[in-house]
Amino acid sequence: MSHERGIPWTLKYRPKTLIEVIDQEEAKSKVIEWLNKWPNVSKKALLLYGPPGCGKTSLVEAIANEYGYELIEMNASDFRRKTDIERIALRASTSHSLFGFNKKMILLDEIDGISAREDEGALEAIQELIEKSNAPIIMTANNPWNQNLRILRDLAEFVQLKKLTKTDMRSMLMRICKAEKIICNEDAINYIIERSEGDLRAAINDLQSVGEGFSEVTLERTKLLLRPRDKEKDPFETLRSIFSANYSWQAKAVINQSQLDYEQLKMWLEENIPLQYTNLEDLERAFEALSKADLYIGRIAKTGDWDLLSYAIDLMTAGIALSAKNSSKDKYRWIKYSFPQRILLASKLKEIRSIRDDIAQILAYHLHVSTSVAKNEIIPLLKTIFTTDPLKAAKIALGLGFTEKMIEYLAGTNKNTILEHYRELKKRVVSHHRSKPSKSIESNNEMYKESVGLNKNSKKEERNLFAFSKKK
Ligand SMILES: Nc1ncnc2c1ncn2[C@@H]1O[C@H](COP(=O)(O)OP(=O)(O)O)[C@@H](O)[C@H]1O
Ligand SMILES: [Mg+2]
Repeated sequence: MSHERGIPWTLKYRPKTLIEVIDQEEAKSKVIEWLNKWPNVSKKALLLYGPPGCGKTSLVEAIANEYGYELIEMNASDFRRKTDIERIALRASTSHSLFGFNKKMILLDEIDGISAREDEGALEAIQELIEKSNAPIIMTANNPWNQNLRILRDLAEFVQLKKLTKTDMRSMLMRICKAEKIICNEDAINYIIERSEGDLRAAINDLQSVGEGFSEVTLERTKLLLRPRDKEKDPFETLRSIFSANYSWQAKAVINQSQLDYEQLKMWLEENIPLQYTNLEDLERAFEALSKADLYIGRIAKTGDWDLLSYAIDLMTAGIALSAKNSSKDKYRWIKYSFPQRILLASKLKEIRSIRDDIAQILAYHLHVSTSVAKNEIIPLLKTIFTTDPLKAAKIALGLGFTEKMIEYLAGTNKNTILEHYRELKKRVVSHHRSKPSKSIESNNEMYKESVGLNKNSKKEERNLFAFSKKK
């Protein structure tokens, strides 16, 4: 069992019973109490909220398992449309069960992933589901203050899960090391824990990427493989950090952690400076900085003189932050920033989201897991593989039929190296194919797998795609 390789450890060591869910005693007893009373409860649904990787989904799964419920599990991206939710409701209300359970429980996972604007009707459908359901409904979310969840306040009882403590995370990681027969260096474990910021999923993934197939985990190896996590700030956080910076170095540091490039940043600032600053002189200073930056950017585009970029960026970060001289309180006002009309970032974000969904679908199909598991457990692991082992990444990509866009999503800056391998492998496949003509796409697909060393369609083989190579 402990030498079964290639399965994400977050799946392998996923809690199966409540005792195995660590550090969430209060939440556990609240959920149990509520469940025991159900349907005689004041609110027919529960919302578990807490930071990523603290055990929300695990807690629900463990309870269902221990108390003999059939769990009907849905991830936000699976219930974008009203009809999806109606389908769940139907499944939950039919008394007959395929698996011989007589009780059912509904898990709507990560509902803060629903966008009120794009997923029209979904929230209303959830509302209706809660009102009509004859099975207990548990939802999860990272952020309980999410605007979308407002309509659920009256319908669901909110239960908080805490960020896990370092001590608890350490004991979990040690347990895994022991089961995997890895000698773990204390420094290395601590490094992983520090990096994960309370996210046990991330920590376990990290441990697997440095530890699987090795007998010892050293700090050196860990530091080498696990580069600092890039915590990208979304556009809203980016603006907030720029405006509220008190020193120019603080403001300048923001651009390196932002999802926005300088062109996009310019447009976001243009749109939002007038919302943040109220004093006329402050406004004038800020717009002057911005228009100078715009000049530099224009000149860079014309002359290709990239040295000017750092001036432009200084102006758009420090220049803006330090403009609020007269009314410096404005810097810290909470503003609902608005989307720049000119850019199609919205559609870009949507595109990213749909790429992720597509990957999840493929993984769910091949690995026989839910899309929720694919998204939460497997995609993060794939991302690690794609940033640490390009050749393996290319094989996986080819074997599962990922598109270049999907590779790009998983690989980030490593994309080109992987694509090189990918094309190389593909060439090999094609020439192989020519020498042995085949009839269908199906057999073509098999051929891909054969020539990249991924024979057969079996579940086990495909899971092994995720094994890290031992050599090198
Ligand atoms: N409280 C916990 N107890 C035990 N394992 C946990 C806990 N929290 C997270 N994990 C580990 O991290 C992985 C992700 O946990 P999950 O419950 O999906 O987190 P989330 O809070 O994001 O739903 C699990 O597979 C499990 O291995
Ligand atoms: Mg979860």
